[in-house]
Amino acid sequence: MKRGYADYEPLTPGRRAVTSIDRLRRGPFRTAQLNLVGWSALLASCLAAWLLTRYAMQHLSGPGWPPWCAAALPLGAVFVIDRRRDKALRAKQIRVRLAEPTDLEALPAIEKSGDVAFREVGMDLVADSEPPDQTAYLPACAARRLWVACDAHDEPIGFVRVELVDALPHVEQVSVLPSQAGRHTGAVLLAHAADWARGAGYPRMTLRTFTEVPWNGPYYERLGWRVLPEADYGPQLQALAEHERAFGLTRWPRQAMVLDLTGPGVIY
Ligand SMILES: CC(C)(COP(=O)(O)OP(=O)(O)OC[C@H]1O[C@@H](n2cnc3c(N)ncnc32)[C@H](O)[C@@H]1OP(=O)(O)O)[C@@H](O)C(=O)NCCC(=O)NCCS
Repeated sequence: MKRGYADYEPLTPGRRAVTSIDRLRRGPFRTAQLNLVGWSALLASCLAAWLLTRYAMQHLSGPGWPPWCAAALPLGAVFVIDRRRDKALRAKQIRVRLAEPTDLEALPAIEKSGDVAFREVGMDLVADSEPPDQTAYLPACAARRLWVACDAHDEPIGFVRVELVDALPHVEQVSVLPSQAGRHTGAVLLAHAADWARGAGYPRMTLRTFTEVPWNGPYYERLGWRVLPEADYGPQLQALAEHERAFGLTRWPRQAMVLDLTGPGVIY
């Protein structure tokens, strides 16, 4: 089973809760934290690989490129590790806070900004749909279930809105400005929502999303969410699915997903 940041360990008394944020920093983004010594060691191994292969090649006939390939392998590893480390460091720097009423004005535009990606994959119906009026975010804001990720000027660049559906937290929307995408802002926002839900004692949370859109179903799966079979829908989740069907959204496969907040593994 794939592990995501939200595959929590069960809590036992006296043991510190491993929060989603901790997992985000330590789990899927676990990397070698290379310092000067680490970099030197890796570069030395490149040199050693190159020398060894060159020495071996002197006893064989053939082209001269294998030593360079051998030297390039550790370098490639360094490159990959460093990119992952960079992503993890960026995730740590993302600032998330509860939304304030003054933030609400910015949220419809952030939600609308995601439409470009849907248009690119031919989902015009989704791209053309209007975002909710800013008053739609008020109840979640008042209930402290709306978080914003902010830039250096404390301006929102993304948000996650959680509603209660069948008495469970339900991610109604998570959106990040395309200009800020790919820095794990979405994952950090979802981690904050999961930490809140877990801290409030909820056993799981839900959402509905497109099954095949890469930044929807597969994305949530990488973050530890699992598909919720339709038989396990509560009445309100069922009603949501019906509403989506009436609106025409189910032209593309959609699914409900669930995040287990009580222990590792799937809940069904
Ligand atoms: C979903 C969303 C919030 C993610 O925000 P983000 O800050 O870019 O998220 P992250 O950086 O944590 O991760 C984005 C992931 O989606 C993938 N992704 C994003 N856009 C993609 C695209 N056009 N094609 C393929 N993959 C894409 C990235 O590869 C990345 O994968 P990774 O986790 O393996 O690196 C953002 O893409 C968005 O606002 N989308 C439009 C609104 C939306 O669809 N919301 C979800 C509704 S259920």
